[in-house]
Amino acid sequence: MGDYCTLMNQSTIEGIVRFGTGVRVMSHVYIPSRTWVGDHVFIGPGVTFTNDRFPGRIEPMPTPRGATIEDDVMIGGGVTVMPDITIGEGSFIAGGAVVTKDIPPRSFVIGVPGRISPLPAALDRPNIRELTIQTRSFWDPRSPYQGESVWPDWWPDKFSD
Ligand SMILES: CC(C)(COP(=O)(O)OP(=O)(O)OC[C@H]1O[C@@H](n2cnc3c(N)ncnc32)[C@H](O)[C@@H]1OP(=O)(O)O)[C@@H](O)C(=O)NCCC(=O)NCCS
Repeated sequence: MGDYCTLMNQSTIEGIVRFGTGVRVMSHVYIPSRTWVGDHVFIGPGVTFTNDRFPGRIEPMPTPRGATIEDDVMIGGGVTVMPDITIGEGSFIAGGAVVTKDIPPRSFVIGVPGRISPLPAALDRPNIRELTIQTRSFWDPRSPYQGESVWPDWWPDKFSD
């Protein structure tokens, strides 16, 4: 595991897993053995990686093959990544997508099964280093998430007491 990695609540790493530098994993993420993760990768909440395409039905049982997640990939909440998939550098996976095939670098993936298109211009950039290289929690008043620890000003006043 590289420097500046974060693993939030109830997330699981099993067996042989490689993380680069600045890998930020939100809560309730499952990362099975033989998953390879590059640098500055953001993994949203509830993401499931897998490592066995036909579990319990093939003899002799094959060696598990997890996903390869290249540098600067952003994976949205609730995404499922099938075994032995490579997600290319800089790609952005929309929330809830199911990634069923290799994803070329700088792709945008959305839906079930994940449809692949080039990144929209606004998302075609590396992940923000203030997000990936960060020693403070989201709720630390000194974190770069402006206002994260402050009551949301768009909530009705009656709930602020
Ligand atoms: C994919 C995403 C970037 C699109 O954002 P956007 O450009 O603002 O898109 P919009 O909300 O304007 O939606 C555009 C269309 O895409 C659809 N859409 C948006 N997000 C979608 C998703 N995740 N899966 C499937 N369809 C989606 C909308 O329903 C809408 O469809 P319509 O044109 O038929 O009405 C965003 O929705 C997303 O998934 N971001 C990741 C969020 C996340 O998981 N964060 C994790 C850390 S908290």
